Amino acid sequence: MSVPCVAVERERGEAVRERLADADALDGAHEIAVDGDTIYIPVTDPEAVPGDLAATIVERDAAERDRPRTPAAILGYEPSLERLGDIVIVDEDDDERAREIAEAVMASDVPCETVLNRASPIEGELRVRRWDVLAGNGTETVHREYGHEFLLDVAEVYFSPRLATERHRVIEQVESGETAIDMFAGVGPYAVPMAARGAGTVACDLNERAVEYLRENAERNGVADRVTAIAGDVREIGDEYADTADRLVMNLPHSADEFLDTAVRLAGDDCVVHYYDIQHEDDPFGPGTREIREAAGDAYDVSVETERVVRSYAPHEYNVCLDVRLTRV
Ligand SMILES: C[S@@+](CC[C@H](N)C(=O)[O-])C[C@H]1O[C@@H](n2cnc3c(N)ncnc32)[C@H](O)[C@@H]1O
Repeated sequence: MSVPCVAVERERGEAVRERLADADALDGAHEIAVDGDTIYIPVTDPEAVPGDLAATIVERDAAERDRPRTPAAILGYEPSLERLGDIVIVDEDDDERAREIAEAVMASDVPCETVLNRASPIEGELRVRRWDVLAGNGTETVHREYGHEFLLDVAEVYFSPRLATERHRVIEQVESGETAIDMFAGVGPYAVPMAARGAGTVACDLNERAVEYLRENAERNGVADRVTAIAGDVREIGDEYADTADRLVMNLPHSADEFLDTAVRLAGDDCVVHYYDIQHEDDPFGPGTREIREAAGDAYDVSVETERVVRSYAPHEYNVCLDVRLTRV
C-alpha cells in the first residue's frame, strides 16, 4: 500500500523519526523501510510534518505492521498520556491502573525511557510537583518545543508542555533588538526563544536548579550571549534593571499580582506585559486588568491589547493571559 513517507539519509533517520514523533506525525501502522542510503519513515498527515522536512515527502509502498504497538491498542482503552521528551506522564489516581498503563507504554512503540504518574499537585514557591516513577528511573529529559531543546528535571523544576502554543504566540511578537525580561523564567522556554529572535533577554528564577538548566539551555540553543540568567527573587533585580524592559513575561499565574510593583519598575517607556492569571469564568480578565491599572498609577497609560483564555484550569476557572501595553505618560 502506498503511503506518504519522509525520505532522508540513513544517518539522520533517528533524529528525524524523533522530530516526527514530537510533531505527532509518525504513522505507527506502517513499517519504516531502508533502501540504500535512504530511510523512508511513514507519516500520518503530511500537513503535520515540520516545514523543513516537507520537501522530503514521497509516496511509497510500506508494509502494514501486524501487531498492536500503541498503548491504546495494547490496553483496549485510550489512556490519558502526556509526552515530555522521552518521559511519558500518566494522569491516573488508581495505582494499579497506572502500573498497567506504564507497562503498556513500555511495551508499545512510543519512544520512552521513563513513565511517571503525578504524585502531588504543583506545589510551593518553586511550583514543582512530586512524581511516582512507574518505569525507568530518570526524571531528567530533553524536551523539544518549536525547534528549541530544553534539558530539565521534572522533579526539580516547573515545566508544562501544554503551554507550548501559548509560549509560541508570545514569542512570535518579539522583535530583534528589544529588551525582554522573563520574571519567572524556569528552564527558559520563553527566554531562550525570545533570545533566538534577537531580544536581549534577562531571565530570573528563584529556583537555582531551574537557572542552572536555563544557562545550559541557552548554551544548547546557541543564545547564551543574549541571555542574562539570574538566580534569585525577581524583586531584587528591580534596581539594576529599572526602566529597561520593552517586554515583560509574568508567568506565575497564582501570584503575579504580588509582583506588579516590580514589573512597573522594570518597564521602559513603552513596554508590553504578558500577564498570566487564574480567574473564575465569570470575569476572567477583570481582576488582572484592575490590578495592572492600579500598579501603573499615573506613571503609565495602560492599554489591554489581548485577552486570551490559555486553558481550562479547574471547573469554572481559567488560566488566562493579558497582553498589556504600558506607555509612560
Ligand atoms: C509557573 S512557573 C513558570 C516557569 C516558566 N516560565 C515556564 O513557562 O516553564 C513559575 C516560576 O516562577 C519561579 N518563581 C516563583 N517565585 C519567584 C520569585 N519571587 N522570583 C523569581 N522567580 C520566582 C518558580 O521557581 C517557577 O520556576
